[in-house]
Amino acid sequence: MFAPPALAQSLRGALDWLPPGSLNLHELTQRPQEIQAGGERQSFFAEYGRLAFRSPDVLGGNARKAGLSCQACHPNGDANRHFFIPGLSDRPGRIDVTHSLWSAKGDDGRANPLEIPSLRGVKGRHRLGFDRRLGSLREFTRNVIVLEFDGAEPEPLLLDALVAYQQTLAPGLAPGQPPSQAPGQVPEQPLRFEDDLRDFTRALGVLRLPLAEENAALTNRVTVMLRSQVGFMHERFEETAPQQILEGWSQELRGIAVLADASRWPEARDRLGALRQQAEQPPAVLMTAAPRSLYDPEKLRIWLSKPVR
Ligand code: HEC
Repeated sequence: MFAPPALAQSLRGALDWLPPGSLNLHELTQRPQEIQAGGERQSFFAEYGRLAFRSPDVLGGNARKAGLSCQACHPNGDANRHFFIPGLSDRPGRIDVTHSLWSAKGDDGRANPLEIPSLRGVKGRHRLGFDRRLGSLREFTRNVIVLEFDGAEPEPLLLDALVAYQQTLAPGLAPGQPPSQAPGQVPEQPLRFEDDLRDFTRALGVLRLPLAEENAALTNRVTVMLRSQVGFMHERFEETAPQQILEGWSQELRGIAVLADASRWPEARDRLGALRQQAEQPPAVLMTAAPRSLYDPEKLRIWLSKPVR
């Protein structure tokens, strides 16, 4: 059975846990380009943070149930200018983050949607937030998780990682982008299955360190995050064959966590190697089914327009 951890699904989770009208075709089919200083060669911390940034598991409450992560509002470190939740947004790209939908603790009892800022170049900012109150990215990130989105107190390593990732987000233009475009206006790219798969393969690399250091708690944490990434891909497929392959991957990740708990490290490392190979050379059925899946904007448009599921 496929049991995605914490309902880590942006399409179906949002249907169940957010007010109708919260899903928007544009934000589900386009993504701003990610520009990291240093490209894809990053430290373990930055890579772990990158995965955590994309994992609903880091947040709590309805945000987590709806499959939202930092990435939902700050896609690839930029701002989601289409994000809109009826009742919490006054205009696209603006959202009330101190609302009871997210957290009873963080609710300020006022309707005060704020513009979602881009995090590009956040490393160089001395004051953060609309009120410019906080200077520390670490403290801001902790407050986002615990106060705004009702998440559990993040362990220090997780916070360090989220900060390290955000600090890699370059302020500059994307390669090839004409300088006439204002900074922050980064070109968008269509969201394709191949890209999600590549991202997943890259994120699998995060598991190497906890498996090498034989750290079961961290192995568990990371496998849960990785399974949510599998969940995001899975929910876009409507055919059984590709779904089963992705369910298999999720089971493999679960298996790695179980082996880690039993201190069977060499086996756990072998299983990761095998899974990486599969993700790098995916079964043909996945690739051939992708154009017929909800990765196709037209298919997704129709799917979104169906009133009841
Ligand atoms: C539901 C949308 C949403 C989610 C999810 C979200 N943010 Fe934000 N973020 C916002 C909004 C809106 C602001 C502006 C709030 C403010 O100014 O206080 C903001 C502001 C920020 C800032 C301040 C940037 C600046 O220059 O002032 C940082 C840093 C940040 N978010 C990081 C994160 C991280 C890390 C996560 C995940 C743990 C996250 N956000 C999740 C909407 C979101």
